[in-house]
Amino acid sequence: GEAVKLAVIPGDGIGPEVVGEALRVLAAVTEGTDLVFEQTRFSLGAQRYLETGDVLTDDDLAAIKGHDAILLGAVGGVPGDPRLVGANIERGLLLRLRFELDHYVNLRPSVLYPGVASPLADPGDVDFVVVREGTEGPYVGNGGAIRAGTPHEVANEVSVNTAYGVERVVRYAFAAASARPRKRLTLVHKTNVLVFAGSLWKRTVDAVAAEYPEVTVDYLHVDAATIFLVTDPARFDVIVTDNLFGDILTDLAGAISGGIGLAASGNINPDGRFPSMFEPVHGSAPDIAGTGIADPTAAILSIALLLDHLGRAEVASKVREAVTADVAERGDAKRSTSEVGDAIVARIGALD
Ligand code: NAD
Ligand code: IPM
Ligand code: MN
Repeated sequence: GEAVKLAVIPGDGIGPEVVGEALRVLAAVTEGTDLVFEQTRFSLGAQRYLETGDVLTDDDLAAIKGHDAILLGAVGGVPGDPRLVGANIERGLLLRLRFELDHYVNLRPSVLYPGVASPLADPGDVDFVVVREGTEGPYVGNGGAIRAGTPHEVANEVSVNTAYGVERVVRYAFAAASARPRKRLTLVHKTNVLVFAGSLWKRTVDAVAAEYPEVTVDYLHVDAATIFLVTDPARFDVIVTDNLFGDILTDLAGAISGGIGLAASGNINPDGRFPSMFEPVHGSAPDIAGTGIADPTAAILSIALLLDHLGRAEVASKVREAVTADVAERGDAKRSTSEVGDAIVARIGALD
């Protein structure tokens, strides 16, 4: 087969540590297949900014666009670092990539693997996916401050929800629900307060539902959704929600299904016009960076999402099989980042 051009953005903090292990797993699982990855490394993030003053140049962006997919570790410095005030790496780099590359689906599966401890006493079978809108909502930067710095400051951050943008992510979520055994879709919003955006989301879900009679649809306000994620997460199958609600729900989802160190994600451009980007849900974790204890599993599971996206589900499932076996036997053993990578690579080698 032809080589897949993979842009690799290790980023900051634990980003490079977990990406290193993810790439080892990618190499192991594609060995002996026709899949070949041609990697380009992009040095981007807080570190790059501190060295050069650049966050994401137009040349960087153009070069990244020339790739088939992106693997990202995490970006962002130590919160409060005075040298980063005003740089806003997250907005200028991560969000700019999501917007420019039209990653309108932010896919965040949550699976509680057998043998993995959840902070919930009786979680049940947790296996759901959050389809988080990725290009709109309160993330678009549609705001401004009036009389900033005075006692009369007004700070606006207006959520943008377009019929076009809502419909395309809702359609993706229905197709995903229809392809899953339970065929359930839950819209999460806050229609009782955010009446304009809520009405658009609700009407869109109702309209698309008519095309998917096999999908069972329900609705939860986002506050109630956080209750059920803790009391009965097994009830969820596909959740479709706006950008900010999806951000918050997926950290909670990570926490209930074994921890943020296991939570993978894909920023997908389903049209295939731009490269999709795969990354752990977690950030650069400055509190543990450099200590060698970051869990690389979320980055490794992001490789499985990348392989799914490339239409290579059979290779992706090998990654999941190896991870499933590893996490089942992990117990409380404190292993280093590279020990987890070693164990998963060894399991891949022992498959079939
Ligand atoms: P974080 O996800 O980096 O860390 C939250 C907590 O989870 C920390 O205690 C951390 O040690 C722990 N943690 C995270 N990943 C882990 C892993 N793989 N293994 C073990 N423990 C792990 O969130 P934060 O502290 O709010 O943010 C830190 C920086 O990362 C900020 O600059 C933030 O903006 C940025 N950030 C970036 C991304 C991204 O690049 N996608 C996502 C979230 C946050
Ligand atoms: C995530 C992160 C980002 C988000 C931040 C760093 C911009 O929290 O990927 O979940 O809010 O989407
Ligand atoms: Mn987040």
